[in-house]
Amino acid sequence: MTLIDGKKTANDIKLEIAAEVADMVARGERAPHLAAILVGHDGGSETYVANKVKACEMCGFQSTLLRFEDTITEEELLAEIDRLNSDESVDGFIVQLPLPRHIDEQKVTEAIDPQKDVDGFHPVNVGKMSIGLPCFKSATPSGIMDLLERYGIETRGKHAVVLGRSNIVGKPIATLLMQKANPGNCTVTVCHSATPDIAKITRDADIIIAALGSPEFLKEEMVKEGAVVIDVGTTRVPDASRKSGFRLTGDVDFEHVAPKCSFITPVPGGVGPMTICSLMKNTLQARKQKVK
Ligand code: GUN
Repeated sequence: MTLIDGKKTANDIKLEIAAEVADMVARGERAPHLAAILVGHDGGSETYVANKVKACEMCGFQSTLLRFEDTITEEELLAEIDRLNSDESVDGFIVQLPLPRHIDEQKVTEAIDPQKDVDGFHPVNVGKMSIGLPCFKSATPSGIMDLLERYGIETRGKHAVVLGRSNIVGKPIATLLMQKANPGNCTVTVCHSATPDIAKITRDADIIIAALGSPEFLKEEMVKEGAVVIDVGTTRVPDASRKSGFRLTGDVDFEHVAPKCSFITPVPGGVGPMTICSLMKNTLQARKQKVK
């Protein structure tokens, strides 16, 4: 069993990006610039955004964090997005989700210029990805594809089973895995809350992507010998023994599933660090598209 080290892979990629940015700057070009909008004080979102700012530093990017109280109106937020859309010094930006209930997330997502949508959430980018056109791919699925590629995992002709059909992981990873590409070329089955007998399907899987947000859902008896298991779950489970008061728990019963796997990602330290890395890759791509 090989443990897929997302933290190391993400660091390797960030160092590659940093080297490319150093070259750009040496040629007299401006470094990439990522902006992030954070509304309110959600603990998870604060951590994600702080990590994004840290990753920008490591890659040599300029970063701007725009913070707003959760009393900001939808109209005010849309005006901020307009401002970033037309700010030539900003290559890409993200609006950290979730947003307060009085703000329509879909409206916000669609207000972002697709050419600056480095999260890859805008329907234009989602649509382009689904038909294999160049676009900003959403960060988590793109990070998973990078892990499969860098660990030399054969995907062609394999049966990949995706657990979960969310717009930010399940649907796009299913799309990428079935794409005529390498990695890709999988036969994909997507399971969700209305799927009967999920275990019967996962037992036939060569590759399982667990992205349903249900702690330790995937059990030993649901996995065949030699499977590749990618755990996208990051549920905060209360844990009084931790300083933070919680521990991040994946969708896989790691202790019992891992011995059966050829490859498996841990939680934390698997898919998580790769997500931010993909955001950095998209921001670099946004910068380069502008230079052309
Ligand atoms: N909230 C949880 N994950 C993400 C992400 O990848 N991007 C944004 N904008 N918000 C998130």
